[in-house]
Amino acid sequence: MTNKLKYFIGNWKMFGDFGDFKIIHKINRFGYESRKLLKKKKIILCVPNTLIHFFKKKLESKFISLGVQNCHYHEGYGPFTGSVNAAMLKKAGAEYIILGHSENRLEGESNKLIKKKIISSLNQKLNVVFCIGETLYEKKRNKTFSVLRKQIKSSLKKNFNMNKIIIAYEPVWSIGTNKIPKMNELKNIIKFIKNDFKKILKTKKYPKVLYGGSVNDINIRLFSPISEIDGFLIGGASQSSKKFIDIVRNYYK
Ligand code: 13P
Repeated sequence: MTNKLKYFIGNWKMFGDFGDFKIIHKINRFGYESRKLLKKKKIILCVPNTLIHFFKKKLESKFISLGVQNCHYHEGYGPFTGSVNAAMLKKAGAEYIILGHSENRLEGESNKLIKKKIISSLNQKLNVVFCIGETLYEKKRNKTFSVLRKQIKSSLKKNFNMNKIIIAYEPVWSIGTNKIPKMNELKNIIKFIKNDFKKILKTKKYPKVLYGGSVNDINIRLFSPISEIDGFLIGGASQSSKKFIDIVRNYYK
């Protein structure tokens, strides 16, 4: 159930400009200087669509990977004003894509729509970071497990290439709030997701499951004992090279 490689994925959300390549550059330099560490820790930064191509071209040595944060479900070109599809993002340099983030679910993305986006991203051989998580309302009504099960069941299919899918458990009440789950509860939820995924999708292997929500350079140490966690999806703290590097450094210290 425990993977040796731990993922540290930054989600820049709607932040960032061309000049912020300096953040990527510093993280990349840290990667270069800590090559040994990176055998066990993988760094990925998911940036706005406007920056992916520029960053990809500028990033010379490759100690980090780049990704994006959403796409349109349609696979070819089409009359979808303001949208970009997975193929366009792949061509622009994305290797990873975050899908099903609660900030997009709150704007109306359904499990069914997310499934279509996963299919088109997998067809482009993008690695999908599939976000699931319960709201505070659902948590208070003891619905966490049923919500997570429904999100997995309605957006993933047995024939998907599971090697290209990473699950990110992000409780909605924890995003940007400085609140994190109790560690014993989190451990149980991560184990539940792994077991349930394997059962529902009849896979041989357990999926990789990350945690996301108010992770920072200080609280990261608290997560180290939960070996079932395969890494972290980091919002706010990923827009500071120092904080992000300290998260990667301080984990398992
Ligand atoms: P914060 O780390 O800012 O809470 O955001 C988490 C998140 O939404 C990552 O996808």
